[in-house]
Amino acid sequence: MKSKIAIIAHGGAGGINYPHRRRSGLIKAVQAGYEILRQGGTSLDAVEKSATILEDITIFNAGTGSYFNLSGDVEMDASVMTSDLMFGAVGVIRDVKNPIRVARLVMERTDHLLLCGENAITFGRLMGMEYHNPKTKEKKRIWKRKKKKCTSTYFKKISELVDLYGTIGAVAIDQHGLISVATSSGGINLRLPGRVGDTPVIGAGTYADKNGGVSATGHGEEIMRHLLAFRAVTLMGKTTIKRAGERVMRYATKNSCKCGIIGINKNAEMLCLNNTKAMSWCYIRNGKLSVF
Ligand code: GLY
Repeated sequence: MKSKIAIIAHGGAGGINYPHRRRSGLIKAVQAGYEILRQGGTSLDAVEKSATILEDITIFNAGTGSYFNLSGDVEMDASVMTSDLMFGAVGVIRDVKNPIRVARLVMERTDHLLLCGENAITFGRLMGMEYHNPKTKEKKRIWKRKKKKCTSTYFKKISELVDLYGTIGAVAIDQHGLISVATSSGGINLRLPGRVGDTPVIGAGTYADKNGGVSATGHGEEIMRHLLAFRAVTLMGKTTIKRAGERVMRYATKNSCKCGIIGINKNAEMLCLNNTKAMSWCYIRNGKLSVF
């Protein structure tokens, strides 16, 4: 029996700058992913397509346009997961255009779940990923401005920068009922070099199982501490998607976890919630597009 198809994407929960470009980018990403689903393609191909489009749009904090770390480098995280528990991720990867593609290659071409740093780059090159500089002038300007506040080689007040996070993510369900999740992030501005956020940690920024799939965005350390995506997906198996979303966000807020989540359950029902200033999102369900 054919399942309903649906796709949802987000552009981070750290606020909404450039609302027009943000909206058009999310619409483009979701429409491209939906087209794959409509033609009978897999939800994995759909979320990868949506995520690469968002990684290439410089206003989002993922791929080209990622925030800089304390040393002025771009180190990116990304992961993919499917409802049959396949997972692949990269952490602190540099100099590639689409970390999400390397994450999928980790999933499909290795026996591992997560590759980090130099060796993730080497693996990407072996798989044909060319050198690409993801630094943009705008993110460099932001980094310089914020760096002035930083008087030591270790910026302890990362929580003061929690408006300066962002992540992109996509969740989709295909006609065979396979649910896939893709999440990609440039991390938090001025984080320590080598810091890994929630995005490539299974169950934190990304999770999927037979009950549904979730991509999270927000303050990575707190999302990791509370395994937010896993928590939300597990609740989806126990109650309605609406209650699952409300319960997980109540829990997150009570535990000072600033975040946003998007998700789809096995009935192609969706959730999109945040406890931050604003979150940008877009989805197509029953052929109808909605955008923030
Ligand atoms: N949620 C993105 C990060 O904290 O790295």
